[in-house]
Amino acid sequence: MRILLIIQGDYGRRYVEAMTQYAPRGWEINHYIFPEKLAIGVDDAPEDFLPPGLPGCDLLLMLQEDPVVAEMAPHLAEMTGARAVIAPIDNKAHLPSGLARQIKKKLAQKEIAMGHPLVFCALTEEDSTSPQIQAFARHFGRPKLEIILDKEKVAAVKVLRDAPCGNTRYVAENLVGVHVKDAYEQAGLLHHAHPCVATMTHDQEIGDTLMHQAGLMTKTAVEEALKEGLDEGLKDALIRYRGHSRELVPILQDTQEVFGYLPEAAMREIARFLQLPESHVYGVATFYDQFYFHRRGRNQIKVCCGTACHVKGASRVLEEFERQLGIGHGETTPDYEYSLERVACVGACALAPVVVMGKEVYGEMTPGRARSIAG
Ligand code: FES
Repeated sequence: MRILLIIQGDYGRRYVEAMTQYAPRGWEINHYIFPEKLAIGVDDAPEDFLPPGLPGCDLLLMLQEDPVVAEMAPHLAEMTGARAVIAPIDNKAHLPSGLARQIKKKLAQKEIAMGHPLVFCALTEEDSTSPQIQAFARHFGRPKLEIILDKEKVAAVKVLRDAPCGNTRYVAENLVGVHVKDAYEQAGLLHHAHPCVATMTHDQEIGDTLMHQAGLMTKTAVEEALKEGLDEGLKDALIRYRGHSRELVPILQDTQEVFGYLPEAAMREIARFLQLPESHVYGVATFYDQFYFHRRGRNQIKVCCGTACHVKGASRVLEEFERQLGIGHGETTPDYEYSLERVACVGACALAPVVVMGKEVYGEMTPGRARSIAG
């Protein structure tokens, strides 16, 4: 496919860079830069200002900063032989919605298709019947990702559809290694770190800024890909089992190994796989202390409340952790940093009272030491 980008000012340059770098092999990408200030008077015909000798193209991308240039789209399309035009609205000062609709009508009279997505990265294949726009939207438009997880961390991210400015690729590269629970918010931060070309001006039509809308689309793409990734993780956990009901406990253990806890969707899938009622699966899982039904904190603090520890003041230690973390035992802090549990004898009675955090065993605990651990 031959694509011609009509750009003006800094706004279009990022698109040229991304398209040139990431367009599929075989696509021909050309661009023409319009002067930032056009000396067009009221009596002038815009077509008089069109550049001669533009390369031919199948698809024209209008990425101007001045609506006057957008008005030239029908002439430019005719000159270049374009069968379709995409004029994204990333900033209504560059292209107001009403003008976009007028241009679309003029192009339709010449049987040239036009798409004018409200932010370029909202474009999908379903938005147009034009083969040129659909072919473009298969690669550029609304972000689409595939995420592979390793336990609860992002192990790899594949970009299935990049934002036309290359933003999604940047987000994907920087999500690797991020914890699943942080990935959604981190995607939003990364989207801002690779400056979005959409405007920060409040838009009445959508009640938000176009930049926030673009960020939301990136975050949604991450959320959807994570869900798929979790499903895949469960399939991996189930693959070595035959579906006998006696396999229930090992399956629960493997599932928890993958996710760090037993998500609701996983419990449903396990019940379906073993052809058992969900209530039975929950009944077995809740019988054992080893299983968790909520995401736990990065640091799991286990306060031993066995007899020896109880006698030596474990409850005061536990209360201090609860005070410091602002949660009760069995709970997790809202930032998922800490989970607090009271557990039975951990087998280190000589060191009572005992607290275990990760692989560390803390003996002879006092409320003061609890403060410094949780602080
Ligand atoms: S009672 Fe706490 S370690 Fe045994």
